[in-house]
Amino acid sequence: MNKIVIAIDGHSSCGKSTMAKQLASTIGYVYVDTGAMYRAVTLYALRHGMLKGGKIDEAALCRDIEDGKVSVSFQFNQQTGRPDTYLCGERVEDEIRQMEVSNNVSPIAALPFVRSFLTQQQKAMGKDGGIVMDGRDIGTAVFPNAELKIFVTASAEVRAQRRYDELMQKAEADPSAPKPNYAEVLKNVQERDYIDSHREVSPLKKADDALMLDNSNLTREQQSQWLIEQFRKVTGEY
Ligand code: DC
Repeated sequence: MNKIVIAIDGHSSCGKSTMAKQLASTIGYVYVDTGAMYRAVTLYALRHGMLKGGKIDEAALCRDIEDGKVSVSFQFNQQTGRPDTYLCGERVEDEIRQMEVSNNVSPIAALPFVRSFLTQQQKAMGKDGGIVMDGRDIGTAVFPNAELKIFVTASAEVRAQRRYDELMQKAEADPSAPKPNYAEVLKNVQERDYIDSHREVSPLKKADDALMLDNSNLTREQQSQWLIEQFRKVTGEY
């Protein structure tokens, strides 16, 4: 069978990226983290003073995108075995995971011109199949014909705790990194859920033909097995 497209959508911080990366490496597919692309555009807007006092300078951001000044790409990192995100040729894998970007990414991702700019690139990346793409609208807008669609969720509290643990680990490893606050992380998760599900363009929504995966009480091992099982059902491989 030809290599298929696997679309993994769902709420923020429910481990989509980790599971998608792992699945891609097990089955030898390319992994694309579309959230990282929206984060990179947000970092661009922050760095260029286009986000001030909760307001976005949409005209300036749209102009820079149209003028080709904003470029987002991935490069495989041999050391980690995973793709790193680049903004205008600079590696920004760490910067895009910081709270300032997390707090501003949802309104940027709601802008129609940002979505069409990134969606176009995502479609091109997956046109020959052999891809595991994670995001919010992959099974509904980017690849509505994907052969395997998964919609992942977990309770907001479970997701906030996972995100908090991740940020805490980073803060312990790097004393200059800010220490997270659980209440703030939970608020961020809930706010992002709301904005992502209520925006006009491509809101976060389960595709009718997507399989639902609630991983609140699953171990990583159980989840990986479930995913491989779904892949096997569709392709007959593994
Ligand atoms: O998966 P993540 O938390 O890194 O995503 C960051 C933000 O980008 C999140 O608020 C939702 C948005 N996003 C989106 O709107 N569409 C996608 N395909 C991927 C992410």
